[in-house]
Amino acid sequence: MTNDNSSKSTPEAETGSGDMFNTAAGWVLFAGVVGLGLSILASKYFHADDPQRPETLGYVIELPDVEEGPSGPTFTEALSMVTAADGERVFAKCSACHSIEAGGANGVGPNLHGIMGAPVGNVSGYSYSSAMASFGGNWGWEEMNNWLDNPRGYMDGTKMGFAGLSSIEDRAAVSLYMNENGSGIPVPEFVPPAEEAEEAAEGEAEAEQDVAEETSEETAAAEG
Ligand code: HEC
Repeated sequence: MTNDNSSKSTPEAETGSGDMFNTAAGWVLFAGVVGLGLSILASKYFHADDPQRPETLGYVIELPDVEEGPSGPTFTEALSMVTAADGERVFAKCSACHSIEAGGANGVGPNLHGIMGAPVGNVSGYSYSSAMASFGGNWGWEEMNNWLDNPRGYMDGTKMGFAGLSSIEDRAAVSLYMNENGSGIPVPEFVPPAEEAEEAAEGEAEAEQDVAEETSEETAAAEG
């Protein structure tokens, strides 16, 4: 490529400004040439002209079940969506190791009659792991939910050889079923968010009314 950068032949040569212009134009051209060269080199280096497509495009991102995500139901909500009868079916997965009827024998795991609300690791005649024997607390709804979700994650060192129930509805149902078998602790009431807001508004209105009544009583007392 020939590029006569000399400005001697142009009339502007004497003014100096033409010189500047030519120098600038030269640099622009030079930059272009360098840029083009680099892009050719880069495309050779990165095989842009011969793309090798991987067999699987992109990464496979495994999403959890919708129910399991943060947008799924809370345990209290799940409890309102299922019944103890649903839980009886789920309990088929537990009955290999647990009996549920009153006075039922301990098996691989302890008898679970009346377990909801009961102290953890306290069924008489059953030999617990030290992890469960020393865990403490009672089997409330949230505790049972977290335990059944991931027994070993919840209680490090437990000997319950059960992977857990991944569905929150299954956990809710089986908890209701256990509750109907000898426990009968109160089931938390699920209040949908919209109703919750309404109830709060009602509560406020009532409180305001009370204040208004009190004030008018006070005014009446002051006047009388
Ligand atoms: C493979 C046998 C096995 C299966 C299946 C199993 N469990 Fe257990 N479970 C155990 C054992 C063993 C323990 C005692 C754990 C320890 O001592 O660490 C236990 C303990 C428990 C406890 C605590 C009892 C207490 O006295 O505090 C609950 C609650 C429980 N299991 C519920 C369930 C439910 C509900 C299921 C079914 C969804 C289930 N288990 C399935 C073996 C099993």
